[in-house]
Amino acid sequence: MSNQDCTIGLAGLGTMGRNLVLNMADHGFAVAVYNRTGEKTREFMEQEVGGRNIQPGYTLAEFAGHLQTPRAIIILVAAGPPVDAVIDELLPFLSPGDLLIDGGNSNFQDTNRRGRTLAARGLLFLGLGISGGETGARYGPSLMPGGPLAAYERVRPILEAAAAKVRGDPCVAYLGGGSAGHFVKMVHNGIEYALMELLAEAYDLLRRGLGLSPGELAVIFEEWSRGELASYLVEITPPILRRLEEKTGQPLIDLILDRARQKGTGKWTSQEAMDLQVPTPTIDTAVMMRDLSGYKAEREAASRVLQGPPPAFPGDRPAFIRLLGRSLYAAMVLAFAQGLALLQRASQVYDYRLELATVARIWRGGCIIRAALLEEIRAAYQTRPDLAHLLLDARLGREVMARQPDLRTVVTTAADLGIPAPGFMVSLAYYDAWRSARLPANLIQAQRDYFGAHTYERLDLPGAFHTRWTED
Ligand code: 6PG
Repeated sequence: MSNQDCTIGLAGLGTMGRNLVLNMADHGFAVAVYNRTGEKTREFMEQEVGGRNIQPGYTLAEFAGHLQTPRAIIILVAAGPPVDAVIDELLPFLSPGDLLIDGGNSNFQDTNRRGRTLAARGLLFLGLGISGGETGARYGPSLMPGGPLAAYERVRPILEAAAAKVRGDPCVAYLGGGSAGHFVKMVHNGIEYALMELLAEAYDLLRRGLGLSPGELAVIFEEWSRGELASYLVEITPPILRRLEEKTGQPLIDLILDRARQKGTGKWTSQEAMDLQVPTPTIDTAVMMRDLSGYKAEREAASRVLQGPPPAFPGDRPAFIRLLGRSLYAAMVLAFAQGLALLQRASQVYDYRLELATVARIWRGGCIIRAALLEEIRAAYQTRPDLAHLLLDARLGREVMARQPDLRTVVTTAADLGIPAPGFMVSLAYYDAWRSARLPANLIQAQRDYFGAHTYERLDLPGAFHTRWTED
């Protein structure tokens, strides 16, 4: 194959990178590949490429030379300084009009900075959120691009071909300018954290509270995955619960250390939500519980001295399992509602011009948070693009309302059993706070005025007021 024949380049042959290359090549695109260590490129070429139209670049000059101009290059390396390092290395081999696409989980502020720096050099830049893990990258991820529209249009056929399809509809769409793509991916991950926390709490209530075995739990999750809870994260739980360790024959899940790790995207979502003053309690709680899980030694020490109620559930077990599933659905809607509220606010503040129906549409397939529920969410925003909050959609609002007694039972049962279920608890509190025309913030205002003369507003009169609360 002659030089300059590849439509797209990819730098960074980690698992995600290699799989995405094979995916694009299988859709008929000639792909040039580069990796910092040439050994990885050689291995990939020898072991995985087969007869596909994939050209290795062992130097950056060779890599850039394989690409049609103006060039389009996807960078798939760990978020943070490695992205800047690859960009810096590539720059001498690029010409004005070339396009760089960062496919990592980059912080959206880094994406803004990189977009500005590269634009000043006449280069185009897209921040591309990619979700779906290794399998998604190989057979169809959900793709969340943001940046200049003209840049997206240039690679649109490749992205549409590589993306997951839901009834033929590709799970990719232009989301907005600047860092819109990476912002949406960040919130996707925040919601991912929230859903995973809720599933972990449901698992804990069934395992510790009802004393069910992992095998029995697998049956319940399987049933859930066939109904209204149908979603990727529910679906992958039964095979996890059924996996036995080869040596001992014990359920592997029982042997896995209960300390959840994180790479930061959930925390960024919460931090950003705080900055934009959008309440996202289920996401915040999920981050908090991962942090708390890290204190394993301390928890073990405390478990020997701090008492709680016996965690055994005394009630009607089949009924509890049913209402736990219904509560999970309500809490999932509430988690999506929080994430989407954050996107709505961010879109105004950062001028992304996001269409939430489009976001829900491209999350229906390929990504980690894909769920049948997203079809309902898409329909809600399709009908009313200006919907102020997901709970105000007549259908979804009704569905959550119908399940709120179940959610209350889960929360009180968890409290009675002494099993922590903070994801369910804050989801219910979020629901109750949203439907409270009056919250006790009046007392907070009065206290602020008492100790700091911060003033308060009144229900019955306009203006700002201060009261002399004490005589001295
Ligand atoms: C995805 C995932 C992916 C990754 C997470 C894991 O959408 O494919 O979100 O991006 O698995 O970043 O995040 P933590 O390591 O923070 O759990």
